[in-house]
Amino acid sequence: MKKMWSGRFESDSSKLLEEFNASIGFDKNLYEQDIAGSKAHAKMLGVKGIISKDDADNIITGLDVVLSEIKSKKYEFKTEDEDIHMSVEKRLSEIIGKELGGRLHTARSRNDQVALDFRLYVLKQNREIFTKICDFIDTLVEISKEHIDTLMPGYTHLQHAQPVSLAYHLMAYAFMFKRDCERLISSYERNNLSPLGSAALAGTPHRIDREFVARELGFAGVTQNAMDSVSDRDFALEILFNISVLMMHTSRLCEELILWSSQEFGFITISDTYSTGSSIMPQKKNPDVAELIRGKTGRVNGNLIALLTTMKGLPLAYNKDMQEDKEGVFDSANTALASIVILNEMTKEIKFNTKNMLNATKKGHLSATDLADYLVREKNIPFRIAHFITGKAVAFAENLNLDLSQLNANQLKQIDENLDENAMKFLDLNASKEARSSLGGTANESVKLQIKQMNEWLEITKGYFKKQG
Ligand code: ARG
Repeated sequence: MKKMWSGRFESDSSKLLEEFNASIGFDKNLYEQDIAGSKAHAKMLGVKGIISKDDADNIITGLDVVLSEIKSKKYEFKTEDEDIHMSVEKRLSEIIGKELGGRLHTARSRNDQVALDFRLYVLKQNREIFTKICDFIDTLVEISKEHIDTLMPGYTHLQHAQPVSLAYHLMAYAFMFKRDCERLISSYERNNLSPLGSAALAGTPHRIDREFVARELGFAGVTQNAMDSVSDRDFALEILFNISVLMMHTSRLCEELILWSSQEFGFITISDTYSTGSSIMPQKKNPDVAELIRGKTGRVNGNLIALLTTMKGLPLAYNKDMQEDKEGVFDSANTALASIVILNEMTKEIKFNTKNMLNATKKGHLSATDLADYLVREKNIPFRIAHFITGKAVAFAENLNLDLSQLNANQLKQIDENLDENAMKFLDLNASKEARSSLGGTANESVKLQIKQMNEWLEITKGYFKKQG
């Protein structure tokens, strides 16, 4: 078969080359973006009189036919057509004739075409992922509202540290996901510019109107340097990075869900609908969803490093290496979407075993810091000494196989004369939580404020991309 670029060639390409070179197997994903870009470009060519108005209209109608053929699955993506750009153009020419179809590529190159298609795709996935994260934040906030009073151990080094509320713990994740959303918005705003009209690398002598095309496609503006526009893939790297951070957050949450659903913790029960069984052990109920999300995070990180490595050291402008940019981005975006959607649905159905959480707070002397703080505040004892006295109290409790919070006034007195009656109320675990009412702390009042601020942010930001049009 004669290639579109075969003018200067004497012999046909080898089958091996054809298969190795082709990207149609995966860039067919970009058909909607490719056709939208071509329609906007054709319209602009018509408006500017670079081709006739009639020709532009006929090209656009032809492109719509191609689009409906692809959508109805009647379309054949052929390896010999190399990539989505030439596949669409070839089919267009079959439908409206070579003479007319051949006019579409005026003032355009596949280099700016692929930069455009890929950008449109990245922006679309950016919007989708953003929306799904917002939905998940909603879920976390809803659950948090119910558990402001639910006491559980807070951990450092995975050892019991200080009592916190479940709401507080979940809101910590909500704030991480909020930043993930903010990163997506920031990347979106930076990259929402049309590269079309950059042509091969140096612009074009045709009197094109790049801003017109940008407006047609819903971009906020146009890129400023054609060589940069066809050379860089930082917009793709940004979404890969944003997804990696998002998945790192989901992975940490999933790790906790896995731990919490274990027999050792028993803090949560994951619903049957989102659990799996074992082929041999009849009693098993496994948290596969959370494990898979944790696992997929590794692949997503790999995609980021892969593209960074591909781009490193490439001379300007376009190099075929850059065809390797797409599969990782498709994979990461699909993975992020699938993960956040199922995580949201699974989380909505989680049963929180608040009794087990409360029991867990009674191990590990969680109010020790409160007791030390009491000695500092009320007895004017230097913190180091207060720390030592409290340490003795902990050892005392451990000898009796008790938790510090279970000691009585008599026992306290035996440990140190400064540990008087008043010290008792600082051993109380709920009081310990309520004492931490500093801004951002775990006290009910602070957590309520966090929830309020999150709701206000959601209210303003959730519809961000809808307002974008
Ligand atoms: N399939 C190519 C890619 O994905 C499209 C651009 C090809 N440009 C070129 N000059 N060969 O990068």
